[in-house]
Amino acid sequence: MTLIEQKNLAPQIFEMTLYGKLVKEMEVPGQFLHLRVPSAELLLRRPISLAEIDQTTETCKLIYRVEGKGTDIFSKMKDGDQIDVMGPLGNGFDIGNVKAEETAFIIGGGIGAPPMYELSKELISKGVKVIQLLGFATKNVIFYEEKFKKLGVTRIATDDGTYGMHGHVGHLIDQAIEEFGQPDLVYACGSNGLLKAVDRKFDDHPKAYISMEARMACAVGACYACVVHVKDDETGMSYVKVCDDGPIFETGKLVI
Ligand code: FAD
Ligand code: FES
Repeated sequence: MTLIEQKNLAPQIFEMTLYGKLVKEMEVPGQFLHLRVPSAELLLRRPISLAEIDQTTETCKLIYRVEGKGTDIFSKMKDGDQIDVMGPLGNGFDIGNVKAEETAFIIGGGIGAPPMYELSKELISKGVKVIQLLGFATKNVIFYEEKFKKLGVTRIATDDGTYGMHGHVGHLIDQAIEEFGQPDLVYACGSNGLLKAVDRKFDDHPKAYISMEARMACAVGACYACVVHVKDDETGMSYVKVCDDGPIFETGKLVI
């Protein structure tokens, strides 16, 4: 694909817009791309979620935080550079059976928020009411606030209280339940702590889903680098592969 725009959204957080025919295959929110780092030293690709898909312009957006060498190299790429992309990969959020007028809690933490943006857009196009609950470490790393607000109700919490509610997303969830009642649909992506909280709160909810993260190598189910154990498994041998069986899973099923 061709990198057509790179924006610095916040300290160490970048938005990359990619153009190419591959966008035609990007139909499900929550899927990810496996990007080759343009460096001979770094052999493993880096998985990054799709934050936005636009079929009319054949573009997609990825939002990533610079963590190590690979993402640092991505952040220095320039408009017009080519990037070797594998994907779209993973199962994505299954939104085939949602009904208009249902209420969805869209829960995103930090760099877990990007895939929730495309998900919200697609749910809204199906008539679902979205309540977006986003948590960030601090005020200056918040991104996409205006874009989420344009889609629907958006509540923000920061760990240090510098913006929005002081605390973590769990508090926003409790507040949203009081205000809007129990949600028909729940979707979450974020840190392990956030996923654990959502998993516990909605463990027997029939339509609650979490997007898992794991270190990946092949990203197509062949190397077993990304396995996560299944709950209540006496043998200790049952696992799922995040890249291939996920990254989206129902709540209450995995050891997080
Ligand atoms: P390094 O720490 O130098 O990486 C060393 C190795 O560890 C690489 O192989 C790298 O791929 C792997 N690795 C390091 N951290 C992670 C991690 N958290 N998850 C998986 N592999 C990791 N990050 C974003 O900023 N935005 C996203 O939208 C996003 N979506 C993701 C979707 C999925 C399904 C997964 C599994 C991860 C996602 N990540 C996302 C995390 C992102 O892949 C890592 O931050 C990135 O690979 C770090 O690479 P690095 O070379 O900069 O860091
Ligand atoms: Fe190879 Fe998942 S990364 S099986």
